[in-house]
Amino acid sequence: MSANLKSMNDRADELELEQIDKMEKGIVTRSMLYCLAAGEDSMGPPINYGPGARLQMGEDPRLKKMPEKPGLLDFFRLRLSPGRGYQHLLQSANLAQKNGMPDKTVFACLLHDIAVVGFIRSDHGYWGAQMIEPYVDEEVSWAIRAHQALRFYPDESVGYGYPDMYTRMFGEGYRPDAYIESAYQEAKKHKWYMTARMICVNDLYSFDPNVDVKLEQFEDVIGRNFKQPKEGLGNDNSPASHMWRTLRRPSNAL
Ligand SMILES: [Fe+2]
Ligand SMILES: [Fe+2]
Repeated sequence: MSANLKSMNDRADELELEQIDKMEKGIVTRSMLYCLAAGEDSMGPPINYGPGARLQMGEDPRLKKMPEKPGLLDFFRLRLSPGRGYQHLLQSANLAQKNGMPDKTVFACLLHDIAVVGFIRSDHGYWGAQMIEPYVDEEVSWAIRAHQALRFYPDESVGYGYPDMYTRMFGEGYRPDAYIESAYQEAKKHKWYMTARMICVNDLYSFDPNVDVKLEQFEDVIGRNFKQPKEGLGNDNSPASHMWRTLRRPSNAL
């Protein structure tokens, strides 16, 4: 580990200690994924139980407070990355609306990168689709899953080329993995191919700082297309509710 990375890690540890203090000795444990993503093959420093210390469980006082029964809009406002990430979703849905896309496609554009801006970047199309699957029309989650692969492949029939941004992001010689190539081949034959393709067409590959789209513009779209569980998102027992609970309380020890 470089000296620089080490001192950054030390500072992160200090900050965590300060946070723990603020949290009346609720110790924040690190998950393996958190550590691996930081290049560390560990689960963080050993847990040091001082007098009265406990592991952090339940609502995390460092994060924005959520209502007892949160809905999708609450997760947008209180958990998704503010600023560019969140605005990317709004700007893409706004473009889809301007392009006269059907309601369902606008909604798919609004949620297409929900994993990137609210959960995890790697394999974001797959995670994002899974998060929303129990609550949306099957076509919407299918399209979000498929956009993970389709965005790498041009479709001249609708004027979609390989994004310049990807050349900048991944380099000239980047080639998608074999599982992406085969997902693309499968998606091409699917009856909902064009819905997923329209996510790519309306995906804004460059963030426009001059456009400020408001979430309120899509409240109706969400109302028509997202089946909100009455218990609150995460309090229900759907196959995806654990993902919303984890997003609500990401520092839970178990
Ligand atoms: Fe995406
Ligand atoms: Fe996107």
